[in-house]
Amino acid sequence: MSGSTKPTTTIEPRPQPGPAGAVDLDAKSLPRHVAIIMDGNGRWARAQGKPRVYGHEHGARNVNPIVTECAKLGIEVLTLYAFSTENWLRSKAEVEFLMGLLLQFLEAELPTMLANNVRFKQIGRREGLSPTVLEMIDRTTAATAGNTGLTLALAVNYGSRAEITDAVRAIARKVKAGELDPSAIDQGVISDHLFTAGLPDPDLLIRTAGEMRLSNYLLWQSSYAELYVADVCWPDFDVVQLHEALRAYARRTRKFGEVVEPRA
Ligand code: FPP
Repeated sequence: MSGSTKPTTTIEPRPQPGPAGAVDLDAKSLPRHVAIIMDGNGRWARAQGKPRVYGHEHGARNVNPIVTECAKLGIEVLTLYAFSTENWLRSKAEVEFLMGLLLQFLEAELPTMLANNVRFKQIGRREGLSPTVLEMIDRTTAATAGNTGLTLALAVNYGSRAEITDAVRAIARKVKAGELDPSAIDQGVISDHLFTAGLPDPDLLIRTAGEMRLSNYLLWQSSYAELYVADVCWPDFDVVQLHEALRAYARRTRKFGEVVEPRA
């Protein structure tokens, strides 16, 4: 990878094909919550003979049109996996680059979030993130707190196992303090102690770049999510691809463990 540790280009949305909004998607069949694993930046860059960070830059550029389209469609929550608890294991240079990109993204995207009535939220552990990153996260969260449209939940320093571990610890502390009876611990109590507390569970989980795995992402919350794997790498996942995923979702019969007859 490149030795550069700072994003070099301004993040601008890449042009999207087709007229925005010209879709045959039925609002009633849309998911409330779409979660995306934005995979394949490195492969996308390598295919062009470029360093990995080039893929991350283009990946970051690609977030704006997808967020904007989800907001326009009336989707309630979009959760994006930007940095996992395991991503710290990457080279120091790549980690620093991704953190720089995150700062740049939050700064650049605030006007779009405000214009599109988007509420921003980070999900993930705060410990481990730098004061600068935390400050920017808090500033963006506060600036968009009054918005009532799409919630953009950015998973930063997020991992499901860390999240569930933290939830178990918090619940155990309450039990120890006599604030919670063990028999009162049900699925709702557990959900309420996750980073995603208050958000509906994902209905549709999209992963790009063809990999068939969940990578420690929203494991509790995605118990009944419909999975969709796109073959394209994240920098090439455009609005047309998003619509394709939403159409595939609309065709699914969700069963939640019950017996449901297939649609005629
Ligand atoms: C996977 O690509 C992607 C990530 C580890 C992070 C996702 C980051 C971005 C889309 C850019 C930054 C985003 C924001 C919101 C600032 P990979 O490196 O695992 O790709 P590979 O599997 O092809 O190597």
